[in-house]
Amino acid sequence: MVKKLSILGATGSIGVNTLNVIDYNQSEFEIQALTAQNNVELLCSQALKYQAKMIAIGNESLYKKAKELLSGSDIKITAGDEGLVEAASLGNDIVMSAIVGIAGLKPTMAAIKSGANIALANKECLVCAGNLMVNKASESDVKIIPVDSEHNAIYQIYDFDNPNQVDKIILTASGGPFRTTSIDQLQFVTKEQALLHPKWNMGAKISIDSATMMNKALEVIEACYLFDVHHQKIEIIVHPESIVHSMVSYIDGSILAQLGTTNMCNPISYALNWPRRIATTVPKLDLAKQSKLSFFEPDYIKFPVLKMVRDIIDNGMVHQIAFNGANEIAVDAFLSNKIKFTDIIKIIDQSVSKISAPPPTTIDEVLMIDKQIREIALHYIT
Ligand SMILES: NC(=O)c1ccc[n+]([C@@H]2O[C@H](COP(=O)([O-])OP(=O)(O)OC[C@H]3O[C@@H](n4cnc5c(N)ncnc54)[C@H](OP(=O)(O)O)[C@@H]3O)[C@@H](O)[C@H]2O)c1
Repeated sequence: MVKKLSILGATGSIGVNTLNVIDYNQSEFEIQALTAQNNVELLCSQALKYQAKMIAIGNESLYKKAKELLSGSDIKITAGDEGLVEAASLGNDIVMSAIVGIAGLKPTMAAIKSGANIALANKECLVCAGNLMVNKASESDVKIIPVDSEHNAIYQIYDFDNPNQVDKIILTASGGPFRTTSIDQLQFVTKEQALLHPKWNMGAKISIDSATMMNKALEVIEACYLFDVHHQKIEIIVHPESIVHSMVSYIDGSILAQLGTTNMCNPISYALNWPRRIATTVPKLDLAKQSKLSFFEPDYIKFPVLKMVRDIIDNGMVHQIAFNGANEIAVDAFLSNKIKFTDIIKIIDQSVSKISAPPPTTIDEVLMIDKQIREIALHYIT
């Protein structure tokens, strides 16, 4: 059966890798819609190459440019938030959710409501609206299959039939570009250094999140929703080689691990083809050539967000939305050279302590809290 697939965030690192996976599985997929925010040239060339039925460009001012680039084709063009939601709801079998940040929330929810299974890369959606998303997915009989390599690994080894036999989830972390940088030097690191991840080649926001280890903190929240576990059952362990993508420890002392090369095409292929596995062109892991696999305790003093996230989860949804929103604003400010690297965590901490709202029960309420925290965080930046 050919699967109808739409890719939200087709021009990003995950989006492009998804199309690379499609390249060696062309007979398995039919591309419905592709979306982007600004990169209209790449979006239109992808749409022509993969004969998409529709594109959505988030930035409405680029609608005219898209019309020009696609003139002579019968590809439908939509723009703005409504366009993204329409692209997500196009009668897909599966939707790759790979927009960065909370901007992916509405389109991803629209895809769930339309009944499509979700290959979920966008962790920020789950952090901000995990319970709403998981409940809607279960009502609509929709599977959320994680693309994040750690959660994808856990998804492959977790005993969903006997969750009471799971002792804990062990999330691995590469440690990011500053694993061996001294705490005193962190305030001087540049954006270029922070963007240089030692193992993964990713978009700018997640690269900075990996440098602060905010990415791992967000992943703890993501895992709580995906596997319905309390955060105390989730342990973080630093594994610089990024070969063991995560582990599940069982009550009898057995630990199951998923291993693979450091290449996002593997988890993407698994998520798109689930429950089958399909051959990929990714080079296979040669364990004999891997001289060592090492594991360390994280440095909680240097990366305080790893402790902070436990309080955030205990404080509930409003704090999770604030944690994410303040981070999005602080990362933008760091990338625009407005703040120092070490200010990112300070701004998150200060902003979250100022938020006050009742727990949200709808996506619009989630977005209202997100708007409120962005204003608070911007105030600290200026
Ligand atoms: N990259 C990885 O290896 C990786 C691994 C695990 C999880 N993830 C998660 O996957 C998501 C995407 O990451 P990425 O690294 O692929 O990011 P990225 O390279 O920055 O790509 C982001 C995509 O989202 C689009 N976009 C940006 N802002 C938007 C907005 N406001 N509205 C609509 N679309 C918007 C971008 O369009 P333009 O190109 O036009 O700006 C682009 O297509 C993130 O949530 C990240 O945490 C990524």
